[in-house]
Amino acid sequence: MMPTLIVTTREGEERELVGESGLSVMEVIRDGGIDELLALCGGCCSCATCHVHVDPDFTDRLPKMSMDEDDLLDSTSDRDATSRLSCQIPFTDALDGLRIRIAAED
Ligand code: FES
Repeated sequence: MMPTLIVTTREGEERELVGESGLSVMEVIRDGGIDELLALCGGCCSCATCHVHVDPDFTDRLPKMSMDEDDLLDSTSDRDATSRLSCQIPFTDALDGLRIRIAAED
């Protein structure tokens, strides 16, 4: 099975991407050709430019946030209860249908 990721861009455009299981949500977005997500550090949890808002219906299915991720999110202006760094979410089959919205740029 190829899980589907539904992304809302900053422009408000909705895009449906098919992701290979094993990639992170950040990598699925990047490979899907959406260039709004800078992901400057390449996924090693040190830049916060892969910030997304996750549909609350999926919160329970996400891996727990590390302290590093929490600290980095604190450095962003658009943080709220749905904020995550997309490079820290492995995109598994269990997340099929996941909806995320790309956070405002800092
Ligand atoms: S890509 Fe840098 S923290 Fe996610």
